[in-house]
Amino acid sequence: MTSPTRTSSLTFSSITPGSGLQAALAKEPAEVLVQVGRSGLRGRGGAGFPTSLKWSLAAETGGEKKYVICNADEGEPGTFKDRVILTDFADLVFEGMTVGARVIGAQRGIMYLRSEYTYLRPHLESVLASRREMNLLGKNIAGREGCEFDVNICMGSGAYVCGEETAMIESLEGHRGEPRNRPPFPIDTGYLGRPTIVNNVETFAWVVCILARGPEWFKSHGTDKSSGLKLFSVSGDCELPGVYEFPMGITIAKLLKEVKGEGAKAVQVGGASGQCIPASQFDRALAFEDVSTGGSVIVFGPHRDMLDVVENFLEFFVDESCGQCTPCREGVPKLLEGVELLKQGKCSMAYLKELCGLGETLQLASKCGLGQAAPNALLSVVANFQDEILGRTNGRKTKHATRSLT
Ligand SMILES: Cc1cc2nc3c(=O)[nH]c(=O)nc-3n(C[C@H](O)[C@H](O)[C@H](O)COP(=O)(O)O)c2cc1C
Ligand code: SF4
Repeated sequence: MTSPTRTSSLTFSSITPGSGLQAALAKEPAEVLVQVGRSGLRGRGGAGFPTSLKWSLAAETGGEKKYVICNADEGEPGTFKDRVILTDFADLVFEGMTVGARVIGAQRGIMYLRSEYTYLRPHLESVLASRREMNLLGKNIAGREGCEFDVNICMGSGAYVCGEETAMIESLEGHRGEPRNRPPFPIDTGYLGRPTIVNNVETFAWVVCILARGPEWFKSHGTDKSSGLKLFSVSGDCELPGVYEFPMGITIAKLLKEVKGEGAKAVQVGGASGQCIPASQFDRALAFEDVSTGGSVIVFGPHRDMLDVVENFLEFFVDESCGQCTPCREGVPKLLEGVELLKQGKCSMAYLKELCGLGETLQLASKCGLGQAAPNALLSVVANFQDEILGRTNGRKTKHATRSLT
């Protein structure tokens, strides 16, 4: 368990650049896929899609030109672990992309870099240049005839929604960054209409560790459904905020002990799109089968007003909605208005119930994950902090009303 001040003790620091690629090149691509599958690796960008399944679907798709995209947009509030990986372990990320390219049969990769990380670009370009010099990128990689792959870096422009893989592809194609209808999925109709895999920065880095150390090593950490290790960005009301490496399945209580945040009243797991977990549920596990997360953990101390938290997240979603679909474009501002009324003590119980209903509609009817997740914080705070919330309604909080809200 490691804090950011000591990235040298993260697993990534023990892996020699080139070792994962050499291991991959010594095998047939199908065998590499089996290794990644045996590790149980699931995407570290949030949704937890099995990496080997995504890659095998793209590998099976015919066509000559395929693409590998690294999602380095890292726009989720409270997430900064990819920044640490890009700063200290960029070699592993480019190497994981190269392995992915060999598996699916791609020759071109793109890293979509968050605009706020522009300062990292010269460093990333120099890592790419030295990999080209070492013949780990370019033509005939590591002396293998016909093994060709290279990576370009493309800058984002500050839109959170462009972290969604299809909006990112639109943006890369030079269009407005708006999510596409799915299906078709990028694995068959991605960048420029070609089969494309999009993976998170951390996912690519773990692929290299899995090849260097073996899938059994990875699987020996974590839980059955969420194997391996994971980086967590921890911020907020704790004494030791930073980036930590923990096994998947760690309980919130254990994490809080490590970061010295035991007095917390709640934690927001998964950023603004995630869930707000109250202290009574700190025995829950950070794993895809329980509290799922791309890695953001925001700690709230006892003095925090949970409505301030919800208001802050909703303001973010109002700003970041791309406006393409009505539920999100019209619904999120309505949720924000309702929370503002609640804060002023001007929201009736009946209206609060309507707001919760509207939130559920957004979860079902919004086109992409942004609108689907925007009501999460409000709904989980209403469900878990009823005393704090109902005390602010303009009307009576009866036991009956409390029950009917949830
Ligand atoms: C609004 C929105 C923002 C997203 N932002 C990111 C992001 O910053 N980084 C990321 O890796 N995935 C992000 N995702 C998830 C991606 O769409 C995609 O699932 C992920 O990059 C796949 O990589 P993985 O399988 O390695 O996790 C976002 C999704 C949504 C709906
Ligand atoms: S849910 Fe929001 S961000 Fe997603 S497509 Fe609809 S308007 Fe755009």
